[in-house]
Amino acid sequence: MKKLVISGGKVLKGSVEINGAKNAAVAILPAAIMASEGKCVIENIPDIEDVHCLERILKSLGCSVNKICNNTLEIDATDVTSINACTDDVRKMRASYYFIGALLSRFKKARVELPGGCPIGVRPIDQHIKGFEALGAKVTIEHGAVIVEAEHLYGTNIFFDVVSVGATINVMLAATLAEGTTILENVAKEPHVVDVANFLNSMGADIKGAGTDVIRIKGVKKLVGCDYSVIPDQIEAGTFMIAAVATKGDVTIKNVIPKHLESISAKLSEMGAKIEEGDDSVRVYVEGDLRGVNVKTAPYPGFPTDVQQPMSTLLCIVPGRSIVSESIWENRFKHMDELKKMGANIKVEGRTSIIEGVEKLTGTQVIATDLRAGAAMVIAGLVAKGQTEILEIEHIDRGYPNIEDKFTALGADIYRVEE
Ligand code: EPZ
Repeated sequence: MKKLVISGGKVLKGSVEINGAKNAAVAILPAAIMASEGKCVIENIPDIEDVHCLERILKSLGCSVNKICNNTLEIDATDVTSINACTDDVRKMRASYYFIGALLSRFKKARVELPGGCPIGVRPIDQHIKGFEALGAKVTIEHGAVIVEAEHLYGTNIFFDVVSVGATINVMLAATLAEGTTILENVAKEPHVVDVANFLNSMGADIKGAGTDVIRIKGVKKLVGCDYSVIPDQIEAGTFMIAAVATKGDVTIKNVIPKHLESISAKLSEMGAKIEEGDDSVRVYVEGDLRGVNVKTAPYPGFPTDVQQPMSTLLCIVPGRSIVSESIWENRFKHMDELKKMGANIKVEGRTSIIEGVEKLTGTQVIATDLRAGAAMVIAGLVAKGQTEILEIEHIDRGYPNIEDKFTALGADIYRVEE
């Protein structure tokens, strides 16, 4: 059993380097299988469990995957031997569904087990399927696997019913090697959607408009290997920004794109925290009093659902009432029960939580119920009086590289126990 043990009350000070974005990397790695010639050398890949899973899946499909150094992978997909992604790793994680779009694009067929991932809601894939079918693929689900096949894929207009990161990326992958032009409307605009489009363009794709509501994809005949560097992780950065404020510290968060953090910076400023933006860094510190605020999650450029859970922890300890509305996932409040064990005053009503700030949280044993809930518990432990033990930290390892080392370097008292 693994757990994190934190003695709270230390003020975080110093600087921290943010890794490459998990949700970009987990789409870019499956997309690398679309290069039929040459090698992809991808830098700034975070060293997290979800990436390790994808490396194993790529190898199981016949790709050669070499770790050039800590955060750089070289992928050669010239001799892919299988279009069947049906291993435990595929079932374990969400992003394995990008192999459907990537394999369909290059080989016009794929069989991929239905994906797992954080238990934060129903997580349907109807919009992915709608997109593949519109491009001309036949999609069936048999024995827990999605099977897609097409004689040809033809470009078309697709209007998504909901704004979905996964569906936008997956259908963009499929359309990249289709014949003719595809226009995707009502798409997700998250920085990682733009990063995947940039990666595909570096391999020879012709994609315009990523980051706006409409993406135009002119199908190309083939993709070739390229050198690419993944963007910094907006969510990891947001987590450290919140931890800095929660401990009333002074932390410079480096290797970030401040524009991607605007909704988080704005909310922290509204609470009374100080934010100083540099070219590729943000300094976050507290001078004076903080106050409760209302937070409503929304697709980019709105406040990210993935930062809602860490933010909730901070709101538990600032004076006044805060209201948190979760509009993306119907089951992303499990961390509230864990926070209550630490003395938080929270009332959950459906997708809304009403938080009355308390003077302090107190340490106890809590569970990381999912990835970002785990980050929320780490921040709770950092500010709580006494010792906090966080169990089920494999969720945290899926998305945060060396979390305890990074917080230790900022002055926290946190360590990992493996029994
Ligand atoms: C991505 O999940 C992220 N995961 C999630 O991050 C993130 O919370 C989410 O986007 C929203 O930003 C990865 O990138 C691997 P969606 P995804 O499709 O793509 C509904 C984290 O903590 N929907 O944008 O699965 C869905 O139910 C993780 O790092 C449909 O109805 O999310 C949800 O309400 C957790 N039909 C909304 O759309 C579909 O076909 C947004 O989901 C697809 C989605």
